[in-house]
Amino acid sequence: MISPRFKKKYLFLLFFVFQFFLMFYISWCPAEDLSRMEKLVLIYQKQIMTQEIELKKLKVTRSKIYYRTEQKVLPKYIKDLPYIYAITPTYTRLEQKAELTRLSQTLLHIPNFHWIVIEDATTKTELVTKFLKNSGLNYTHLNALTPKHYKLEEKDPNWLKPRGVLQRNAGLEWIVTNQNSKSNGVIYFMDDDNTYSLKLFDEIRFTEKVSVWPVGLSGGLRFESPIVTNNEVTNWFVFWKPERPFPMDMAGFAINLKFFLQYPEARFSLRVQRGYQESTLLSQLHVKLNDLEPKANDCKEILVWHTRTEKTKLKNEDKLKLKYGHGSDLSIEV
Ligand code: UGA
Ligand code: MN
Repeated sequence: MISPRFKKKYLFLLFFVFQFFLMFYISWCPAEDLSRMEKLVLIYQKQIMTQEIELKKLKVTRSKIYYRTEQKVLPKYIKDLPYIYAITPTYTRLEQKAELTRLSQTLLHIPNFHWIVIEDATTKTELVTKFLKNSGLNYTHLNALTPKHYKLEEKDPNWLKPRGVLQRNAGLEWIVTNQNSKSNGVIYFMDDDNTYSLKLFDEIRFTEKVSVWPVGLSGGLRFESPIVTNNEVTNWFVFWKPERPFPMDMAGFAINLKFFLQYPEARFSLRVQRGYQESTLLSQLHVKLNDLEPKANDCKEILVWHTRTEKTKLKNEDKLKLKYGHGSDLSIEV
């Protein structure tokens, strides 16, 4: 296979040779030949565009080289491979340890990965502290409390208030403070309850500015997705609030670290309309539609799902207490 580097060189050489002949020609050609020259320029421009599309395709292939399904244990660190900095908000509830277990066991398969876990709490809990220590992952453990009036009440519908906002901001703060423009990597916001295919991480690792892809089971549809024409994002396939500048889920985009560090103040906000978190952040990065890099086979493959875990009802704990005077053993961590 021709390597992308070779292709790049080849493109550059072609362009250089073409420029040289053009200058040579201009210096002696008679005026009537100029229209012929214009035609020639158009032909060469077209050729360069085709080469560029070819180059884009090769980049996608390159990212797939790192995905080795046959290999049972992946190395944790591969030299020169950009890092993935994943930001995960999490909060105390009955299902928390189960979610974190499921997620962390996916993450163990990913090389060059740093997990930033931010608890929505006044202090770091013992459960999460112990969990991360034993996870075998590279991680940073933080906490940031959502103020009470911004937090969902037991009976509130789950869309009433935004979740994970201050926690994701604390994660970004950590990145801005601890990484510099020499770090090679990508930032991804991973909620603790979604389902992620390992293939996704090989795709997003080579994000140059902002990459996007579809999210399954999202927005009340089978999937929501960017619409891609000729390798470029041209529109969005969504039903809910399509008028948003970036109508997509948190799980559907990644940001190049160096690019983010050009706008180190960019943050999510508690004071924006529902569904506008993603747009709020990306607008601060001055991203335009044609800057977006489509991943996941031109957005035709679903590699992440917006799954949600059913709330467990402890209806028999009280019955047990009535009957035997005590519920299940609270010293056993669930
Ligand atoms: C949808 C989106 O997929 C989220 O990215 C978005 O944050 C959320 O809506 C929103 O409206 O704010 P959804 O499944 O409804 O997601 O939200 P959750 O999974 O309940 O919460 C998103 C993240 O915030 C999770 O990682 C969760 O652990 C965390 N969270 C949730 C907190 O840190 N504190 C809370 O009180 C609730
Ligand atoms: Mn969720």
